Amino acid sequence: MKILFVSPEVAPFVKEGGLADVVGALPKALAAAGHDVRVICPRHGSLRVGTEWKRREEVLYVPTGEGTQFASLWETVLDDEAKVPLYFVEYEEYFSRGEIYHGPWGAHGDNDRRFAFFSRAALESCHLLDWIPDVVHCHDWTTGLVPVYLNTLYRFGPWSGTASVYTIHNLEHQGNFSPEIMQFTQLPNWVFQESGLESMGRMNWMKGAIYHANKITTVSPTYAEEIRTPSGGFGLDHALRFKGGDLLGILNGIDLDAWAPQTDPLLGANFSSSDLTGKSTVKAELQRKFGLAENPHMPIFGVVSRLFHQKGLDLLASVVERMATSGRMQLVVLGSGEQWEEESFSQAAARHPESVGTYIGFNEALAHKVIGGSDFFVMPSRFEPCGLGQQYAMRYGSIPIVRRTGGLADTVVPVGEENATGFLFNEPHPHELLDRIFEAVSIWEYAPDEVHRLRMNGMNRDASWERSAREYSQVYEWAVQARRG
Ligand code: ADP
Ligand code: GLC
Repeated sequence: MKILFVSPEVAPFVKEGGLADVVGALPKALAAAGHDVRVICPRHGSLRVGTEWKRREEVLYVPTGEGTQFASLWETVLDDEAKVPLYFVEYEEYFSRGEIYHGPWGAHGDNDRRFAFFSRAALESCHLLDWIPDVVHCHDWTTGLVPVYLNTLYRFGPWSGTASVYTIHNLEHQGNFSPEIMQFTQLPNWVFQESGLESMGRMNWMKGAIYHANKITTVSPTYAEEIRTPSGGFGLDHALRFKGGDLLGILNGIDLDAWAPQTDPLLGANFSSSDLTGKSTVKAELQRKFGLAENPHMPIFGVVSRLFHQKGLDLLASVVERMATSGRMQLVVLGSGEQWEEESFSQAAARHPESVGTYIGFNEALAHKVIGGSDFFVMPSRFEPCGLGQQYAMRYGSIPIVRRTGGLADTVVPVGEENATGFLFNEPHPHELLDRIFEAVSIWEYAPDEVHRLRMNGMNRDASWERSAREYSQVYEWAVQARRG
């Protein structure tokens, strides 16, 4: 099948979160399964054009309600081995800025235009490439208009057989805009209705996609259930129940080339489940880097995360003092987000320099070191559609401590069960998290064999994309059947 991925992010080129990792990895697994997959993304200002990139000579014409806009298309590949074609849409006015969604003062004020334009440009690029896909697979709110376009302006002619698959990576961000942008999109007025793009008088792009896509997926089976309920549905549970027969949860895998402790060049030393010596080296370097007491017997709890309400790290912030003063553990936090959370962890590091280390910012290389050098990995999310951090951690022998929600519940097997890989807690209360942390420390101190067993189970668990790619192939087939009747 011919499949076009439309996404605002793609790793390793431009990334804010796990969405980039998925779009950078799943297409490779689909290509390996024999599909003709291609990926399209905006050429954001932070992207440096590689020497082997080619700019197409043809102009990319993008029709809008304000006349045709002229863009261009860059061409490269996702990686040298898989050779999945990757295109970047260049349009100065919307995408030359460094940040994808937010500037220093909040969300970009023209996000509606930027991503309506990108959605249209993605489809128009296929004309330029003379390549019309069987399936357009789009991701999260920024591409929510694509399924709506396919059901309206692109319903007939060459696009009549093209199905849409829409993946929800995070239901919290829905793309909520004034309907004034309708004119710019050129969409017919009828799509602005209750069972479509309209929500309380405004446009809701995610809702539009839910109603218009041929199939909807989300990134874990448990999250697929949670979002159908009022408590997990962010106001869209009704729409998701209505389209429930078309909604499926498929667990994310991880890119085993980019996240391989035995070869990872960002770690500084390598290791595998059969030889963990390198892990001790990474741990010692991490302790040095953060100025912590250099002690191999002290367990390190690691965090690599966006610091927002979703991630529940405020729970951790409220128990840091107890952790630091116990003298039984160290904590390393890499993250950025809400200012108060950043300050809270920075202050904890200033108060307890020998046991708490904090780095505020986004740093890919350091992320690998924290994950590789830590013994435990904390992810107390309030909700977590899938979560990649805990999966990387398990791969790198860092035992996850997570809340039982969404993809965390689907990927971490609790201590006490066969093939256990980590610790889970139920309610988002600091004391529940702290209980698990101290349980982990006790096991570290008194049951090293158990620590080793948890580690081995995590490192050897199947996290490849292959199984999920098979499930997506099936969904693509169902979507095409639905589209072509
Ligand atoms: P989400 O997409 O909700 O942020 P995931 O666990 O799916 O959560 O993916 C997060 C990804 O972003 C992981 O690859 C993680 O390592 C990375 N990440 C998060 N914060 C940082 C940071 N400050 N520096 C480097 N990488 C980060
Ligand atoms: C979102 C979710 C995260 C998921 C990622 C990739 O950012 O918050 O749980 O792993 O998308 O699907």
